Amino acid sequence: METSSRTPAIVITGASDGIGKAMAVEFARQGARLGLVARRKEMLEALASELRRAGSPEVLVEPVDVTDFDAQRAALERFETRFGGITHLILNAGIAARTTPWSDSWAGVKECLDVNLMAALNAAEWMKPRMVTRKSGTIAGVSSIASYRGLPDSGAYSTSKAALSTYLESLRVDVARYGVRVVTIAPGYIRTALVKRNNGNMPFIMDAAKAGRIFARGVLAGKRVIVAPWQYNFAILILRLMPVWVYDFLIGIFMRGVRGDTPESRRASKT
Ligand SMILES: NC(=O)c1ccc[n+]([C@@H]2O[C@H](COP(=O)([O-])OP(=O)(O)OC[C@H]3O[C@@H](n4cnc5c(N)ncnc54)[C@H](OP(=O)(O)O)[C@@H]3O)[C@@H](O)[C@H]2O)c1
Repeated sequence: METSSRTPAIVITGASDGIGKAMAVEFARQGARLGLVARRKEMLEALASELRRAGSPEVLVEPVDVTDFDAQRAALERFETRFGGITHLILNAGIAARTTPWSDSWAGVKECLDVNLMAALNAAEWMKPRMVTRKSGTIAGVSSIASYRGLPDSGAYSTSKAALSTYLESLRVDVARYGVRVVTIAPGYIRTALVKRNNGNMPFIMDAAKAGRIFARGVLAGKRVIVAPWQYNFAILILRLMPVWVYDFLIGIFMRGVRGDTPESRRASKT
């Protein structure tokens, strides 16, 4: 298939599975060139074949751990050269980390912040001046509803997402005058490997394929903030307005429902 300099060249981190993969499929359907980053090489290569069949004229893969910051930047450099400029950078790679009151969770806290926050900022800072010089481009970050208040058991995850959202908001204003867009994606519950540990009820949970379509189309449409499932727009409003004492009382009950925790499972997870 022929490409022109106007054909979007979209790089996605965390593209091997879940939301990143689903976004890649939608971008391919729209005819975009794609650069895929994640650690699992075989999954990236299988996805690349699927994306070419779905309509992408060019798919490149870079099996990279995004917490190897130099390796991530070297991969971005190769995409930039090969595509003649990345038009959209989607910072999606992410992991969950559970913190508990009875254990030192530092290793998990650090890994979560390195993947979800530092790697995203490492890539965004690399990309920003190049797009500003070209006076075009889009940087999108996959944050979370968990960015709006600190979720119990998820101190590191909520922190990483709150910081990412704050960074993206600052960046959006900084680069707008240079023709560069910044998009904050805030998913509620999406059915992926990341939420598999939850055994309870995840309200309004959405399939990854549908979420990927909504997020990819929103990015191409140049939206500033994209929330899905849509019901979470109300959740954000309520979370923002809720007084601390009401939040402290209700959020533990809500999250126990999501986790499906029983007194037995909580006792077992102490060991
Ligand atoms: N699912 C939800 O309900 C939900 C809700 C809110 C926000 N989010 C956010 O959405 C994003 C995608 O999550 P998901 O639900 O799609 O989870 P997922 O299915 O587990 O996918 C996570 C992706 O991130 C990649 N990844 C993880 N660590 C990496 C590393 N060190 N280097 C490179 N790639 C790495 C994984 O690829 P490899 O393992 O191959 O490296 C995978 O492709 C995350 O930022 C997550 O926080 C998800």
